[in-house]
Amino acid sequence: MTLSESMLQQQLAQPIRYYPRVASANDLAKTWLLEGAPDGAVVIADEQTSGRGRRGRVWRTPPGAALALSILLRPPAAHVARLNMIGALSVYDLAAQVGCEEIGIKWPNDIQVSGRKVSGVLVENVWMQGKLRGAVLGIGVNVRVDFSQTDLRDAAASLEDFTRRRLDRVKLIRILLDRAEHWYQRIESDAVYETWRRRLNMLGALVVAEGVSGRALDVTPEGALLIEDANGVLREVVVGDLAELRSLE
Ligand code: BTN
Repeated sequence: MTLSESMLQQQLAQPIRYYPRVASANDLAKTWLLEGAPDGAVVIADEQTSGRGRRGRVWRTPPGAALALSILLRPPAAHVARLNMIGALSVYDLAAQVGCEEIGIKWPNDIQVSGRKVSGVLVENVWMQGKLRGAVLGIGVNVRVDFSQTDLRDAAASLEDFTRRRLDRVKLIRILLDRAEHWYQRIESDAVYETWRRRLNMLGALVVAEGVSGRALDVTPEGALLIEDANGVLREVVVGDLAELRSLE
């Protein structure tokens, strides 16, 4: 179904701004946040022409095939780091509700189904005059993006690859925003960290992240990954990309 602002406004409780085509929903959300948008307001785009992923990567949002939304939030400064966890938990819940199995969070916040990435989260803090004004929780979900002819064919997938039925994007947005609200209300509770930790899919495995290789032992409440290297030294990786290794040679 084609998205439209009036239909989204009817179906969603949150204040929203809808754009058929934008460079990046996160950029518009930052502007709206500085204009004084209410907490929980959401920018939704059908297509992004310069969607951004983590670490300067490109995030593809072709028209009619994905969810691209950015939630404007003003969390307590001490808990801003939990927004990434909240984004990942919300998509995990969404994937479970539409019937996906073998869902996991690949540290730090990629949501995978059967080992392929279906969604990513990009949190950007919004500063003005040296003060943190809030944050934008950007979430991209592949609903029916076709990766079969691309280099990502083994690494990325869409929810419909697993549900094998057509999904209604408006319903998906509703579920996702409900779950984000659920977790955001708990941002000060350890449940956010504990649930995120339990849902990570590489704890215990041999991994490499940012040049540190070893066994992924645990994560900290701030979201860093703890890797035990071959010398038994515990190393903390705060940001980065994770890959699983088959052996530690
Ligand atoms: C990643 O896994 O690298 C993060 C992807 C985040 C994509 C979302 S889509 C909505 C928002 N706008 C953007 O430009 N990026 C985020």
